[in-house]
Amino acid sequence: MKKRIDFTETILRDAHQSLMATRMKYSDFEDALELIDKAGFYSVECWGGATFDSCIRFLNEDPWDRIRKIKSKLKNTKTQMLLRGQNLLGYKNYPDDVVEKFIELSVKNGVDIIRIFDALNDVRNLETSISATKKYGAEAQVAICYTISDVHTVEYFTKLAKDIEEMGADSIAIKDMAGILRPYEAYDLVRNIRKETDIPLQIHSHTTTGLGTTTLVKAIEAGVDVVDTAISPFAGGTSHPPTETIHMIVEEKGYYSPLNIEVLEELADFFGKVKEKYIEDGTLPVRMLTEDPKGLIYQVPGGMLSNLYNQLTSLKQIDKFNQVLAEVPRVRKDLGYPPLVTPMSQMVGTQSAFNVIMGQRYKMVPNEIKDYLRGNYGKSPIDIDETFRKSIIGEDQVITDRPANHLEPKLDFYKNEAKNLAKSEEDVLTYAMFPEVAKTFLANKYGA
Ligand code: CO
Repeated sequence: MKKRIDFTETILRDAHQSLMATRMKYSDFEDALELIDKAGFYSVECWGGATFDSCIRFLNEDPWDRIRKIKSKLKNTKTQMLLRGQNLLGYKNYPDDVVEKFIELSVKNGVDIIRIFDALNDVRNLETSISATKKYGAEAQVAICYTISDVHTVEYFTKLAKDIEEMGADSIAIKDMAGILRPYEAYDLVRNIRKETDIPLQIHSHTTTGLGTTTLVKAIEAGVDVVDTAISPFAGGTSHPPTETIHMIVEEKGYYSPLNIEVLEELADFFGKVKEKYIEDGTLPVRMLTEDPKGLIYQVPGGMLSNLYNQLTSLKQIDKFNQVLAEVPRVRKDLGYPPLVTPMSQMVGTQSAFNVIMGQRYKMVPNEIKDYLRGNYGKSPIDIDETFRKSIIGEDQVITDRPANHLEPKLDFYKNEAKNLAKSEEDVLTYAMFPEVAKTFLANKYGA
């Protein structure tokens, strides 16, 4: 029997999140949903990540309504969301009762697969999300955040995969958010993880630096079961490898692809028009569609490079750009090599900029870095030097167990705070995620 490769289509979440800041409106893809359902995808990533925030902040759409509508049209295809573990869809740790309720409602409103990750790969920050996902009957897919550093070796990630399987994950994803996972490294990684676990293995990479398609091909050769791709008009650049292309490579290799190429062509026609519209109205900047290997040269994500560039430009310190880039690996080492993914990428970037601009390292330290050093984000990949830690936070208490153990239940607090705005449990959770934005959004929604 032919080896089967399944596909997760990202057009409704990561593809437009990566290319145009998650601004795709429901009304612009509604007419494609039935077609998407005929294509043969294993799942469609369509919720979570930045879609929730974008819906209420920019698009004036209820995210819960969005997932219900999507789900009602996808009869044969699983819906998938991205969840930041204990941070849910926000940037701070939520107490367990909020995490549990959020997952309960996500599943109830139509999410079939929840891809869960933690920015530090601290598995303790995944515990509640994994158990809640399983409790409410969805697939718990746990993602390993891929990054490059002295400690992030194939052995490190393989051990992590083993730990994740033991925690009860239904499947594992290798999440290369920055598109810096090189093809032969991907091959070794998949091979090694395969030797250790039998649960389905999926790969998520980006074409940001130009590697994505090749990396997927090598991962397929090495035994990955599912790949993340984007229908061609929204593929490439900071997005993902094109669905049609990977489908054709899978068939060329002699593997079985469940995708229907005629339906994919129709989908490409549909989203080609959507893309034209977004380019014309300026929502989709054309430069996002070009690969840029700089991220590989500096080993930092492309998004972090452009953030640093903008930050330094606004501070009129752009002449220090290269010095700041050189400071990034040093700060990262001081902090125990956190993966450069949100929010760590912003924190490491800002600290590096401060260190260079002030002319003295750690003269100025943002509160987020202090919180990190107090253990509030979780465990760093390797231990932080105690002398360094004390030089920043003195004798402050340092949390060494699971950070959420220190958070009191807060669901009732949110219910009470939102009682004049919220008409459903879903509204309360919207409020809990983004209180300020939710106030305006819910007031508009109910015409208050
Ligand atoms: Co991604």
